[in-house]
Amino acid sequence: MVKFLRVARDSETAPDVTQGMAFFRTISVADSFSAIQGESVFLRVPEMADFPQWAALREASRDFLTPWEPTWPADDLNRSAFRRRLRRYSEDVRSDQAYPFFVFEKDQQRLLGGLTLTNVRRGVAQAASVGYWIGRPYARHGYMTAAVRAVIPFAFEVLRLHRIEAACIPTNEASIRLLEKTGFQREGYAREYLCINGIWQDHLLYARLKGDRS
Ligand SMILES: CC(C)(COP(=O)(O)OP(=O)(O)OC[C@H]1O[C@@H](n2cnc3c(N)ncnc32)[C@H](O)[C@@H]1OP(=O)(O)O)[C@@H](O)C(=O)NCCC(=O)NCCS
Repeated sequence: MVKFLRVARDSETAPDVTQGMAFFRTISVADSFSAIQGESVFLRVPEMADFPQWAALREASRDFLTPWEPTWPADDLNRSAFRRRLRRYSEDVRSDQAYPFFVFEKDQQRLLGGLTLTNVRRGVAQAASVGYWIGRPYARHGYMTAAVRAVIPFAFEVLRLHRIEAACIPTNEASIRLLEKTGFQREGYAREYLCINGIWQDHLLYARLKGDRS
């Protein structure tokens, strides 16, 4: 069962309890939103207290992650850069631009990785993109599958999106498999779509619609 804690869109009342999910205290997203409970994981908004775990995990996973991510700034793992990151996250949430989460193991509450709904487009689109990473020691344990599955109802029922998009480099077998097993469909191919690891790289385009079944 997926549960959302203290999450509601700006000045909206959260929807009624619906099959397979429960909504708790409903307050403005701009003020606060905290946690999404999945199967083996929970997702919550990053906090300053996460810095030591986050920096250690990112450093330990540097070689594993950097081929698939935008180039890391030189000071990326510094405490001051993390503070700036949190300020940006907070502004993104306040302005309904993006919803960043850290992913934690449910039992031991260890930080496992991150997942963000970015580039929220309202109006006639009602769409966002999803991005994710897992720390190297926790890869291939099904954690990101659980995290993506947990965020899907949040995106559709709480944020009221119609479409979640994702893009990955054609050689990223892990990301392709993850998207396909969480109900995303391949829709296209975009040339030099994103600058990843310092190189403009072609990407496969995936999407999951609100009405799609996994
Ligand atoms: C993509 C990523 C987030 C997947 O996280 P994960 O927690 O390891 O994923 P899961 O354990 O839930 O596995 C999902 C599926 O991918 C498969 N998979 C995972 N890693 C794989 C790999 N290196 N090669 C092939 N398949 C892989 C799993 O076996 C599973 O499929 P299955 O159930 O059919 O066996 C992780 O590999 C990662 O962070 N990669 C580096 C950063 C990245 O690529 N980000 C995304 C950019 S688009």
